[in-house]
Amino acid sequence: MRVRRIANRPSVCDSQDLGSKPFALETISTGSFEFDRSLGGGVTLGSVTLIGGEPGIGKSTLLTQFLATAANGGHRCLYVSAEESQPQVAGRISRLGGADSSIGILIANELEDIEEQLLSYKPEIVVVDSIQTVSDSSLASSAGSVNQVRECATRLSDIAKFEGIALLLVGHVTKDGTLAGPRVLEHLVDTVAYFEGDRDSTLRILRVIKHRFGPVGDLGMFEMGDAGLADLENATGVHLVDRVEGQPGSTVFPALDGRRVMLTEVQALVVPTASEQPRRVVTGLEMSRVLLLLAVLEKKIGVRLHNKDVFLSVTGGVRLSDPAADLAVIAAVVSSLVDRPVAPSIVFIGEVGLGGEIRTASNTRQRISEAYRLGFTMGIVGVNFVEDVAGVSTVRVKDVRAALAEASLHFR
Ligand SMILES: Nc1ncnc2c1ncn2[C@@H]1O[C@H](COP(=O)(O)OP(=O)(O)OP(=O)(O)O)[C@@H](O)[C@H]1O
Ligand SMILES: [Mg+2]
Repeated sequence: MRVRRIANRPSVCDSQDLGSKPFALETISTGSFEFDRSLGGGVTLGSVTLIGGEPGIGKSTLLTQFLATAANGGHRCLYVSAEESQPQVAGRISRLGGADSSIGILIANELEDIEEQLLSYKPEIVVVDSIQTVSDSSLASSAGSVNQVRECATRLSDIAKFEGIALLLVGHVTKDGTLAGPRVLEHLVDTVAYFEGDRDSTLRILRVIKHRFGPVGDLGMFEMGDAGLADLENATGVHLVDRVEGQPGSTVFPALDGRRVMLTEVQALVVPTASEQPRRVVTGLEMSRVLLLLAVLEKKIGVRLHNKDVFLSVTGGVRLSDPAADLAVIAAVVSSLVDRPVAPSIVFIGEVGLGGEIRTASNTRQRISEAYRLGFTMGIVGVNFVEDVAGVSTVRVKDVRAALAEASLHFR
């Protein structure tokens, strides 16, 4: 039997009547500033959120912590696990600090069982961990197949919308995102967030790529520890914590990740080449862009690099595709070449044109303000940035030569 509570015949209703329904767009705080920030305030009742991520990244941890907070806040919560046992789920709740109020735990992988329990337990917030392990036995295909995942998610969403439940679906993705599950769900759900991070690092990032209740692009940043996930303090500067100041070849660029400024370090090492062909080894930057910038340096500034190997890297595993990083890359290369450090208070923001001219980057003001918050007091930027930012000396430069001179990078 299919549990179906939605009226079979659609009917028109008045938007003003709907707007007064108690669950209309009510948002529940997750208890985490970073989680709330990425979702524009919290989790919305009557909505469906997909949290995707690689195995072991911390999806169950994130959602368990949220349910514990919500239960403590008086909300009725249900954790549906289709891949772990009751003691495992209960153990995680207690290991992560526990909830003073109880959380319902349902171990089930049959869709109908889950539907029935949603209707009888009457939760406000439900986590289904994971959607790929739930299946409808009336379908021929196996759990995790595109058909099953789509059917199960659609039917659970129907109930969530009708009953005003905040439904959070966990979806596994592999590194290349090929697994059928989450990708086919993206258009079915209201919010899609991916939980990312490096296995070797404790940093975790929640990246919202679709959100029907607010803007997308804000990131949530966390640190994974023994006690679970904690909001990352000073997230803007997380990639600079191991930076050694005063090193030749190191520059700082305020990158934009979504709508958030992240300060990143660009490192260059320029050494005499030992082979006939000079080597260009690049990590975290686009090789074609780097080759273009090196050509500009040779042609417009007269920097001789044909007999030099150039190694470039962005620290913290960050990938920069933003052309506003050009100036930081060029300054890092020249700084290494002349073996002279750039003053540690400087950030570089500017796109470099083929003629060596500097184009003003988008969101320059936001980038400089955030850099100032972390102690940087000088921004080398394009001439078209006309605003003043309190506390920061903004040096406007029209071309690469002027930028290098302002950073005291003289050569020859
Ligand atoms: N007993 C424990 N003590 C400390 N940390 C733990 C413990 N168990 C798990 N962890 C941490 O939690 C991480 C796994 O988190 P979690 O189970 O939330 O991931 P997941 O994304 O739900 O994984 P899966 O895809 O297997 O369901 C581990 O990598 C580990 O860092
Ligand atoms: Mg899990």
